Amino acid sequence: MAFILAPSLLSADFANLQTAVETLNQSQADWLHIDVMDGMFVPNITIGQPVVKAIKKHAKKPLDVHLMIMEPDRYIAAFKDAGANILTVHEEACRHLNRTVSQIKQCGMKAGISINPHTPVSMLENMVEYADLILLMSVNPGFGGQKFIESTYRKIEELNRLRQKYNPHLVIEVDGGVGIDNAQRLLNAGVDALVAGNAIFSAPDIIRQIALFKSLGEGSL
Ligand code: DX5
Ligand code: ZN
Repeated sequence: MAFILAPSLLSADFANLQTAVETLNQSQADWLHIDVMDGMFVPNITIGQPVVKAIKKHAKKPLDVHLMIMEPDRYIAAFKDAGANILTVHEEACRHLNRTVSQIKQCGMKAGISINPHTPVSMLENMVEYADLILLMSVNPGFGGQKFIESTYRKIEELNRLRQKYNPHLVIEVDGGVGIDNAQRLLNAGVDALVAGNAIFSAPDIIRQIALFKSLGEGSL
């Protein structure tokens, strides 16, 4: 089954972002995953909407923007203006998640909801029908290059059940510790979109590494 591969620019060289974006343009990558962190929701601080806007100028693929920030409602319009196509917020960072998701859609973006490894999938029971995408974090968010948390497989199964019940169009995305070693198992479990940072940007040939990832999808046809 074809799947969406979203390389995470968090592992790119921030001093050469244009080069990284141009490399991804030439590759078989489907989306560009951009990690926005505020130093409050997660311990790290990364990039904000001005940098997203700069990336957008060069990107030929949709921007999959992952907000790891408190009260993201404050910035929905700003990220739309910056060029986000998919805007994902964290369940743990929103007081009125249904309203936040509606606002993202009203702004003309696809709405994603992410949950941390400790958050049960059942927290999303009443949101699956309203979301375009659910992003399961398979590491504690904040940094690239961490080890995949195995309980994610169980969460994928649970989310699959909710998808069947409430929203067959839901995209299931997994983020954190994804590599060539576990990608096939994740796809077999029903994941539609894989985020990979370290596994792509640490490879000697990024375009070839992306092609290798994408060939896994072909194998499961
Ligand atoms: C972590 C970020 C991820 C990160 C994944 O908080 O949300 O998108 O870039 O990096 P890897 O694939 O290296 O675990
Ligand atoms: Zn991410």
